[in-house]
Amino acid sequence: MESFRYNPRIRAMRPSASMALMAKAREMQRTDPSVIGLAAGEPDFPTPDRICMEAIRAMSEGYTHYTPGPGLPELRQAIRDKLARDNDIHCETEDILVTPGGKNAIFLAVNALLNPGDEVILLDPSWVSYEPIVLSAGGVPVHVRLDWQASYRVTREALEAAVSPRTRLLIVNYPNNPTGRVLTPAEADVLESFLLDNPQVALLSDEVYEKILFDGNVTVSMASRERVRERVITVNGFSKCAAMTGWRLGYLAADKRFMEPIYKLHQHSASCVSGFVQRAAVVALDCQQEMEEMRRIYQERRDLFVSELNEIPGVHCESPAGAFYAWAIFDYPGLDSNGICTYLMDHAGVVGMPGSEYGELRASSMRFSFANATEDMVRAGERIKSALLELPR
Ligand SMILES: Cc1ncc(COP(=O)(O)O)c(C=O)c1O
Repeated sequence: MESFRYNPRIRAMRPSASMALMAKAREMQRTDPSVIGLAAGEPDFPTPDRICMEAIRAMSEGYTHYTPGPGLPELRQAIRDKLARDNDIHCETEDILVTPGGKNAIFLAVNALLNPGDEVILLDPSWVSYEPIVLSAGGVPVHVRLDWQASYRVTREALEAAVSPRTRLLIVNYPNNPTGRVLTPAEADVLESFLLDNPQVALLSDEVYEKILFDGNVTVSMASRERVRERVITVNGFSKCAAMTGWRLGYLAADKRFMEPIYKLHQHSASCVSGFVQRAAVVALDCQQEMEEMRRIYQERRDLFVSELNEIPGVHCESPAGAFYAWAIFDYPGLDSNGICTYLMDHAGVVGMPGSEYGELRASSMRFSFANATEDMVRAGERIKSALLELPR
């Protein structure tokens, strides 16, 4: 057969490294069950029972057909109330679209709003899917390399160096995957004044880890800032905070002007989200206690794992303020992110993600998910430590 030349926008994308490393860990575990996979960003907790029971009830009540495209009214209203209560975001029910996952919400927004050649600013280290999604829309990713020695703080200078008349979108993500940082009020001020001075730029705020915050930390939702809120698209979902990764459920909130093209694209792609999943999501929004219990356990694991990493000479790991990732910087001459990742796979039986996949090209770094059983985190910490102690420094 003549070779098939597929869409160049898709050709420009790299396959998902996290999915590749998750598959690698599973493959290694087939021959060595003691291998510990810390690459996946997936809670190890089961979905809370109340949520599952509601889905079963809704299914038996007939919520098994197409639903209204933007989402069930009761779920959109519950999301509107939640945004007002938890995030100080005040919008109307019509400004909310329910989507099959937060990733899909980002895909819809980016693809509906960009023109070919429009530039999108990404703050690195950044989640692995932003760049491919921008490429899928014919956009141009512009990477701002934040500095680990300055704790990845967002600065006006860094944004100024990246912005141009073609900039249409800035994507931010707090609590952050992979660094675990939150957005401080001072950084939110920087983003706000940047948006005010650059009226051609919209901001997409990815808040899928919003409930996973440690030590009383808080993070700012940019749509709570009155002067810029019309230009902020807020994305959230149920995967991370409610342990619902497999349900594929997320949402976005955006001004009507943005919603019109976004909804059009949704109508012609997913159409709608399963009714029984949406009914269960109404209950999930009420599961504060269950989410708090998971958060508390993540914090215990974070403390165990991060303190073990910091005992290793040549390793620096700032305690993350949120999300469930430990982001470690390594100082081992000759070993970059991929080198360290491969070394730990081969000598510690621990599979993490190399930091270069998130655009950290200046420091050798890795991301380890601590959304894994506490005993696995303890074993992983010990094994990483003894493997690295063998290395010359
Ligand atoms: C930063 C970030 N945003 C969005 C998502 C998408 O989550 P989902 O599509 O499961 O809601 C993820 C998942 O890994 C993520 O890490």
